[in-house]
Amino acid sequence: MLAATLRDPEAAIFVCERDGALLGFCTVRIDRGPPIQLEVRRAEITDLIVRGNERRRGVGRGLVDRALAWVKERGVERCEVRVAGLNAECQRFWRSIGFGDLMDVLHRRL
Ligand SMILES: CC(C)(COP(=O)(O)OP(=O)(O)OC[C@H]1O[C@@H](n2cnc3c(N)ncnc32)[C@H](O)[C@@H]1OP(=O)(O)O)[C@@H](O)C(=O)NCCC(=O)NCCS
Repeated sequence: MLAATLRDPEAAIFVCERDGALLGFCTVRIDRGPPIQLEVRRAEITDLIVRGNERRRGVGRGLVDRALAWVKERGVERCEVRVAGLNAECQRFWRSIGFGDLMDVLHRRL
């Protein structure tokens, strides 16, 4: 999956490392929303993971800042992320760096 992301000119992977050790990474891609939306091009952060013992040191925020700068350089002005409603820690992370509610995703098991 990461190899496909690397080949896609509309996607990027940002990594944070120290002394050759990976502390965290973030993947982002630009795509097209349904034409009914006002802004057709939008970005989505598809993965963000920071190594457990490196959390709460600004690594996640730094990776997202880099990803958003890359998106903005491409003329795209909005970025989405999918976060489980029950994942309180991730909810707090994203909201603390300026992300807010867009829509509720409802589901039903079949
Ligand atoms: C979510 C995650 C990426 C955050 O990375 P991080 O490097 O710890 O985040 P930062 O240090 O940049 O935190 C920035 C701010 O977010 C908020 N925050 C981050 N983690 C938080 C937590 N567990 N609880 C409450 N607030 C949190 C804080 O406001 C924090 O600022 P502060 O430390 O000065 O108070 C990391 O916890 C992680 O990898 N989680 C598991 C993977 C995962 O679920 N990824 C999917 C994300 S939707």
